[in-house]
This record gives sequence, structure tokens and C-alpha cells, in this order.
Amino acid sequence: MTSKNRKILVTSALPYANGPIHLGHLLEYIQTDIWVRFQKMRGHEAYYVCADDAHGTPIMLKAQQLGISPEEMINNVREEHMADFAGFNIEFDNYHSTHSDENRVFAEEIYNRLHAKGHIKTRTIQQLFDPEKEMFLPDRFVKGTCPKCKSEDQNGDNCDNCGETYSPTDLINPVSVVSGATPVLKDSEHYFFDLPAFEEMLKEWTRSGSLQEEMANKLGEWFESGLQQWDISRDAPYFGFEIPNAPGKFFYVWLDAPIGYMGSFKNLCDKRGINFDEFWEKDSTAELYHFIGKDIIYFHSLFWPAMLSGADYRQPTSVYAHGFVTVNGRKMSKSKGTFIKGRTYLDHLNPEFLRYYFAAKLTSRIDDLDLNLEDFAQRVNSDLVGKVVNIASRCASFISKKFDGMLSTNIDDQELADEVMNAGDSIAALYESREFGRAMREIMALADKVNEYIAVKEPWQLIKEEGKQQEVQDICSLGINLFRILMIYLKPVLPELAAKTAGFLNDELIWEGHKALLVDHKVNKFKALLQRVEMDKVNAMVDDSKDNLVATQDVAEPVTGPLADDPIADEIGFEDFAKVDLRVAKIVVAEHVEKADKLLRIEVDLGGETRQIFAGIKSAYQPEDLVGKLTVVVANLAPRKMRFGMSEGMIIAAGPGGKDIFILNPDDGAQPGQRVM
Ligand code: MSP
Ligand code: ZN
Repeated sequence: MTSKNRKILVTSALPYANGPIHLGHLLEYIQTDIWVRFQKMRGHEAYYVCADDAHGTPIMLKAQQLGISPEEMINNVREEHMADFAGFNIEFDNYHSTHSDENRVFAEEIYNRLHAKGHIKTRTIQQLFDPEKEMFLPDRFVKGTCPKCKSEDQNGDNCDNCGETYSPTDLINPVSVVSGATPVLKDSEHYFFDLPAFEEMLKEWTRSGSLQEEMANKLGEWFESGLQQWDISRDAPYFGFEIPNAPGKFFYVWLDAPIGYMGSFKNLCDKRGINFDEFWEKDSTAELYHFIGKDIIYFHSLFWPAMLSGADYRQPTSVYAHGFVTVNGRKMSKSKGTFIKGRTYLDHLNPEFLRYYFAAKLTSRIDDLDLNLEDFAQRVNSDLVGKVVNIASRCASFISKKFDGMLSTNIDDQELADEVMNAGDSIAALYESREFGRAMREIMALADKVNEYIAVKEPWQLIKEEGKQQEVQDICSLGINLFRILMIYLKPVLPELAAKTAGFLNDELIWEGHKALLVDHKVNKFKALLQRVEMDKVNAMVDDSKDNLVATQDVAEPVTGPLADDPIADEIGFEDFAKVDLRVAKIVVAEHVEKADKLLRIEVDLGGETRQIFAGIKSAYQPEDLVGKLTVVVANLAPRKMRFGMSEGMIIAAGPGGKDIFILNPDDGAQPGQRVM
């Protein structure tokens, strides 16, 4: 191997166990996965661990809404998350849960150590309390009128209308989002982590760690405005770990979440006999990296290193933040169909396309990344299909048809071969420094050169000429060899394509393989490696994402005024609206759909015609209450194949989600099949 064998532990942030994995999340897991695959390919001892972040109020409330225990819910969600990650070829060494024995042990141990050293303080604070639900309300579970501009229905911590930030106790006419009751102020003793005591330590860590420049600047600002004590306790009822010797007090979810990195790794160590301490002890020489999004820098660059230090563990070697994914230049939006779940993507498109597109656009910086869907299709088609795979498809058929699959012993253009072989070090350096976009550009520039070489040589002409057979074999052999090296370089990004290529070439595509060519080597019959991206499929994915408008709403998230989250779509004319054929329908069958947590299967009578409709209203309606009711459906919506079957229309419903989804109930006098307008 080129450099000495490193021990590297890598994590991605732990996704919350109350919602699906979407394309925004996937940027992070794909970025991390590429980096870890690269490290492993280079022969280092690297581990990639993650887990579901399973604690906290939103998770507790969502389970209540679904009528199941939080344990059952987090198990289901974890299964779904793991299936989604596997679908994108994200290869964790371990995927655990923060609601685990290992995590409880570490959370208690770290807390006890901090406590013993006097880093935990207590004081009584006043908080809004829901007298009906008998629970304290986190800021985002209180709504009311903005104290400044008086606009109604604003969040507990800031106003969408005027931008004012305040405490929920400042709201005029506050209401609990959970029950609708008027909250009251109540005292409670809270536990605080004494972050200010770690200022020197954190400044030291900032200087020693290889932090991104933007992150170091952010930290500088935070030091300047002064570190605050951090409230780490929450009162029962709370889904989490109870604090030792503090009955009724629980660790705030963000205390045990990063500890979940240790919990997951410990679980892996126990399974595989890895030495845990070697990675976490105070003077560990192993490397520890956390990949995160820019929204959670504070937790990872202040609280987490300070907690570790106070509890006598090592600090992260670095924390690498990335920006946010936007789609078509805008924040992902449910109404535009750009809030795309990983699963919906996989229903339509090849996961490697997204891996490549993200890689092509990733830098080591914290900038946001736009997934422009037209550009996505075009880039994948032009680079992967048009450049890389094209090399193989142009050369392979000659080799298998005319030369019995044998690559020649002659090297037709040594200079070109050297150029491609020698690029390995600079491409490796770009991977190492997370400049994936630059790495992809360098690889594509090489692919261009190889294609140019083949275009100039025109083996398809030579093959027709007398006495040029050897030349054709030499040209196509070099083409296939250089394709092989490009696929070695691309293997961290495109593991599936690399595996197919390895099968075709009879070669493992190990990193060191880039230094040599395969000569006098037999390859297998070439099969098409990659299909082009069809814009139809991209559009169908967007449509499918719209379909779930109500169903995809995260029911535990209080909606911050429906229009704030989900802006009204572009204006349409009356003629457009008039195309929608709304009909009275009678619900004749309504039932649960196995494995669907939001959909009901409904059959409606449209006055002589029966239609099946899947509607995302399960959280709001019991099937048995619906049967026999009249409602309104869109009767001329093109039928759509959904995961569970055909949906032949749409039931009109509105509302923020959860229990608050409302279908229309026309008067009893209405007749099924009647036009509504
Ligand atoms: N549970 C916390 C993390 C705890 S880590 C000890 C959390 N979960 S999350 O599900 O909201 O986000 C998981 C990761 O996905 C975070 O790093 C977050 O920044 C990232 N992303 C979520 N939405 C994203 C985009 N739209 N774009 C890019 N990354 C995004 O935060
Ligand atoms: Zn306001």
C-alpha cells in the first residue's frame, strides 16, 4: 500500500426515527460512503457506523398518534431506513439504534464522569406546560400570536411573518400543538452541562483539528458571543434514558445522540472482536471523523468534543460538514414534488446515478448543492453512459467476437496508457480531501482522451481491412484496459457498476491495479452495463412524490402555518381548474394496507362505476368510520400504479397531517356520480 495502514472510524449523523430517508439525507450518507469505500480500497482499517436517533418528544408523540409503542415505531422505521440505505449501496459496518443497551451504558458513564467533575449544574426554570397532556412543551409544540407584529398562528420560537425570535412564553394566546389546550407556566428543575468551562479546551481542539475553514470561522463567532450552559434534561413523560439519580428526569435527545456513535461502534466491536478502546481512549492514535450537515455543527463542534473531553475520551480528528440539498434551485417542497423520498427515487431510477451526480457536485466546503433534475439526467447520460461505459461498448464486441475475449500483449499507445495509470495519485488525493467533484472531472477528462483515441483509430473501419486485425485487437485491448482503470478510480462512487465491470473483466478492480494493464488476459462476454436516464422516469418520480402530498407529511412535526412550509403553487387559470372533474362518491370499502403506515385502500362508488383509490388519510380516519360515507373525488385523474396497486382517482383532503386531515362530506342528499361543480 502507498501509505501506512491507518485506523479510521467514520460516522454519518444519525437520522431521526420518525420519518423517511429523503434525497437531502442521502447526500450525507453517499458522501460518507464514498469516502469510506475509498479508504478501505486503499487498504486502511476503516469502519463506518451509524444508527437511528430514536429518542425525544417528536418520536414519542408520533408513536402515540400511530397508536403504537415508541419501541415498535422505532423498530419499524429502523428497518425502513436500513432498506433504503441498502438500496443506495450505502455500506455501513454497523447500523444500530440510540435506544440500545450500549448507548445507555455510555450515556450514563459519560454523565456520571461529568457530574463527578462538577460539570453538571442544576437550576429551576419556568416552561410552558400542557395541563391536558400533562407534559412540558418544547418550543416547536407551542403556537400563538407574534408579540411583535401580532400575526397569528406563529411558532413558539420565531415568527414567520416578521422574523422576530422570542421565547414561547412571549407569545400572545399560546396554544399547545399537542392538545390545543392553553399552556400554563410551570417550574421545573433542569440539569445543565457547563460548556463555558471547556472554552480553552475547545479553542485548542479547533486549532489542532483539521477543521474546514468555514467551520473554524463559525466557532470563532461562537466563542466571541460567549458559550452558554446547555440544558441536557427533560421531564417525564419523555422517550429516552432516565438520568442516574434523578427520577423523572431524562437525557435530552441531543445528549445521547452523538454518544450513539460510540454505542454503535461498541456493538460492532463486540460482534467482530475489534478493540474499542484503541479508537476512543484519551490518547488514541486512531482517526475519528464525523460527517454531518451544516445545521448540526454546534452540537458536533462544541457540545460533543467538550463532553468527550470532560469524560476523558479522545476528541474527533475532524468534523466535516456539508451543505443542504436543494432541488431545481429551491428548498425541497412537497407541493412541487421535489421532496423526494429515497424509496420513491429507487422505484424509478438507478441509485448509482444519484451517487455519481452528488459526487460530481461535491466539494470539501459547506456550500449547498442543487439537484437540478434536467442537469442530473444530462450529466449522468453524458458522463457515465456517453463517456465511460461507451469506451467498453465500443471495444468489447470486437474483442469477444473476433479475438475470443483475449486482450492483446501489445500496448498500442504507451503514452496514453501512462497518463491514465499515473493519474491515480492525484485522484486519490482528491478523494482524501473530499474534493469529489474535482476527482470526477479529472476522471472524465481522461475518459474524453480515451474516447478521442478510439475515434481517431476507428477500429470499426480497420476491422474491414486486410491485415489490420492485430491492430484492432491492440486498440480495443487498450480501450478496455483504460476503461478498467477508470472504473477502479470510480469504484468508491459506483460500486454496482464496478462489480459488473469486475465480472466482465475477470479482475477485482483493487486500487493498486491502476498501475498495470491486463495483457494476454481473457475477458467475459460483454453485457450492457448501464441504461440511460430517461426524463420520463424522472418526471414519474416527481409525480409520485406529489401523490403523497398528505401521506408524506411528517405527522409529528407541528405545521408552522400551512402556507409557510408549503407555499401555494403557481397560479392557474379557471380553464385549468375546470379540467378537474370532481364527483360525489360513496365509500363502499375502506381498509388498512399491509406495510403502509399512511395509506388506506378505499373503493368508491361513482354512481355505477367502482374505483380503487389509495389515500394517505390513515392517521386521521378509521376505515370502519368511512364506509357508507359520501365524499368528493377527482374522477378524471390518470390512474397511477402505486407500490400497493392501482390508484384510480384521488380523494380530496386537506390539512396539516396527522389527525388533522379532512375529507369532504357532502350532504346526504347528494348522489354518487354527481358533478360537484
Ligand atoms: N438526529 C439528528 C442527528 C444526530 S447526530 C448525533 C438529525 N437527524 S436528521 O434526520 O434531521 O438529519 C440527519 C442528517 O441529514 C443531518 O446531518 C442533516 O444535516 C442531514 N440532512 C437533512 N436534510 C438535509 C438536506 N436537505 N440536505 C443535506 N443534508 C440534510 O439531525
Ligand atoms: Zn411577527
